[in-house]
Amino acid sequence: MARVVVHADKAAAAQAVAVVIRDLVVAKAKAGQTAVLGLATGSTPLPLYAELIRLHREEGLSFRNVVTFNLDEYEGLSGDHDQSYRYFMEQNLFRSLDIRPENTHVPAGTATDHVRTCADYEASIQAAGGIDLQVLGIGRTGHIGFNEPPSARDSRTRRVHLDEVTRRDNSVFFGDLARVPHGALTMGVGTIMEARQIELLAFGSSKAEIVRRAYCEKPNADCPATWLQLHPACTFHLDPLSDSEL
Ligand code: GLP
Repeated sequence: MARVVVHADKAAAAQAVAVVIRDLVVAKAKAGQTAVLGLATGSTPLPLYAELIRLHREEGLSFRNVVTFNLDEYEGLSGDHDQSYRYFMEQNLFRSLDIRPENTHVPAGTATDHVRTCADYEASIQAAGGIDLQVLGIGRTGHIGFNEPPSARDSRTRRVHLDEVTRRDNSVFFGDLARVPHGALTMGVGTIMEARQIELLAFGSSKAEIVRRAYCEKPNADCPATWLQLHPACTFHLDPLSDSEL
C-alpha cells in the first residue's frame, strides 16, 4: 500500500521531498556512487525544483554525481521547442544546477524509429543501474508519465496516444488545443514500478477525485496510477485540498 503524507501546503511538500532527494544524493556521493533520479514535468513539481535549486545555491548541494531520466516527451517536439519537456527541464532545473548535461535524459520526441528509441531509453536506465528515486505527478485521467488509460502494469517505454482530457488540460501551456501533440513517448508503468522509491506529488482540489481513485480503487489499467498501490516504497505527498476526498 502506498503511504500518504498530507502537508500543510505544496511548499511544505516540496521541501519534504527535496530533503529526501538531498539525503539520497549526499549518501550516494559519500559512497562514491551515482544517484539516479526519475523526473517529472507539469506544474506540480515546480516548487520541488525551485527548492532543489535553492539547496544547490545556498547549501552547496552538488548534482555532479546525479543522473536523471525524465518520464516522457511530446511526440514531434524537439528540445528547443518551448513546450517540449526537454526545454521545460532545462529552464526549470538543469540550467540552474551543476549537473552534467550528458547525465540528463529525456526521451527524443522527434525520433522516427519509436520502437528503437524507447528500447534504447530502457537500456540506458538499466545501464545507469536503475532509478533510485522517481518523482511523479498525476494527470486527471489517472496517468503517470503519459501512461493514459488503459495502461498495463507491465507496460514499458513506448509511444502513446494522448487522451483528449490531457490534451485539453495541457492546452493552457500551448495557448491553443490544436497545437497540442496527439502523441508522446513515455516510460511504461512497469518501468516506473522498477524505481526503488517513488514520491508522487498532487496538489489542489482538481486532483482530489483522481487521488481518491488512485489510492482507493483496486489496481486497474483504466486508472494507471492505481498500480502504485503495489509498489513497496511509494509515498503520495498531498496538500489539504488534494487530500479532501480520501
Ligand atoms: C502531464 C505530464 C505528467 C504530469 C501531469 C500533471 O501531462 N505528462 O507527468 O504529472 O501532466 O500535470 P500538472 O502537474 O501540471 O497537473
